[in-house]
Amino acid sequence: MERLLIKGGKKLAGSVRISGAKNAAVAILPAVLLTDEICVIENLPYIDDVIVLSEILTELGAKVKLDSNGRMTIDPSNVKGYTANYEMVSRMRASYYLLGVLLGRFGRANVALPGGCEIGERPIDQHIKGFEALGANIDIENCIIHARADELVGSEIYLDIVSVGATINIMLAAVKANGTTTIVNAAKEPHIVDVANFLNTMGANVKGAGTDTIKIVGVQKLKGCEYTIIPDQIEAGTFMVAAAATGGDVTVEGVIPKHLEAITAKLLETGAKVIEGDEDVRVIGCTDPRGVNIKTLPYPGFPTDLQQPMTVFLCITNGTSIITESVWEGRYRHVAELTKMGAEIKVDGRTAIIEGVDELIGAKVSATDLRAGAALIIAGLVAEGVTEIENIYHIDRGYENIERKLIRLGADIERVEDRSLVV
Ligand code: EPZ
Repeated sequence: MERLLIKGGKKLAGSVRISGAKNAAVAILPAVLLTDEICVIENLPYIDDVIVLSEILTELGAKVKLDSNGRMTIDPSNVKGYTANYEMVSRMRASYYLLGVLLGRFGRANVALPGGCEIGERPIDQHIKGFEALGANIDIENCIIHARADELVGSEIYLDIVSVGATINIMLAAVKANGTTTIVNAAKEPHIVDVANFLNTMGANVKGAGTDTIKIVGVQKLKGCEYTIIPDQIEAGTFMVAAAATGGDVTVEGVIPKHLEAITAKLLETGAKVIEGDEDVRVIGCTDPRGVNIKTLPYPGFPTDLQQPMTVFLCITNGTSIITESVWEGRYRHVAELTKMGAEIKVDGRTAIIEGVDELIGAKVSATDLRAGAALIIAGLVAEGVTEIENIYHIDRGYENIERKLIRLGADIERVEDRSLVV
């Protein structure tokens, strides 16, 4: 068990390079199993979710080689099984993509119900509705989902809720189905476009990704390919918020600025300066930031995954800010931790009302989920005194080398062993 110790009060300055997008990687890696030829995936973030997925692919029979520069070579030619390891799968949410992929390749899939962050009820009814529309039978027994189809046949599927996971999972199952599948009310996140681009590079026929209607014409065979994953807009947004919150001056490099428009707009409203380059965004904090209101929405709205980091910044801006979390009703578990640090936040259902305070004070806090952990790091960076963050394994699931990147920007942050557990 490790913890992060942060001495607050340093303004972040310099430049930071953003890693590949976690939420694209966790779909693209399983998608490799749709072919039996070798795929090379570049720009993978070195995070625990990617490591766990590489173990799952290996266990299913693939040969996997991960280089230190974020390049993974996967040979799936020996994959015969369609039952994913229960223990590994239950460690991560995105394991649900194995359902669409194994169903698409073998017409069979046995996969445990997904794990992942505790951020509210996380049903997968829209994924299942999609698979059933394609002709699959789905049974859930003892927390294991069994999917089976003699033949997958294209269909029109209307999503009742705009769901990233369901949109991607249905694409994965449909790329080799007979005929045309249309997903209506699809999610439009950049990683959906990235997964569609990857599938098309393998020889699939997916059109309309990035709009609310995606058309997939089934093909018989997919081939191996080389593919580079897009930069992670949530990691980029996290560093942008950290720069503004510490009153710093940080250039976030290797990004697609268009993907960052929602966070850019909100930081500008607080009074921060944001300067967009072709592949970078520079954020310069101001001395007297203003509170702002935020409503989380599917892309291109303000991303729920940046709500928690942004909450921290709003704790130390002037005036009152109101946050409406419209995607995950339970995504306020960081609030109790921030309160220990002197934040004034009242949560009522999906709404959080934040009264800006002069400063946060360092305290011992616990990362309750991935983005809550990132938020607490920012809280530690701006707080007076020392902040100690426990349960940082949540952060390691989704951020590559976060403390090393922060140290290069001038932060005083250190990873330490939990001595109470060292004999
Ligand atoms: C993805 O989760 C991301 N995870 C989440 O990122 C992100 O918060 C979320 O999209 C929204 O952007 C991955 O990509 C692995 P959804 P996902 O299906 O696909 C409801 C992070 O921090 N819903 O778009 O699981 C659901 O309850 C993580 O990186 C149904 O009702 O999210 C939620 O309210 C956390 N039925 C809403 O839709 C369904 O079948 C959006 O969920 C599916 C979803």
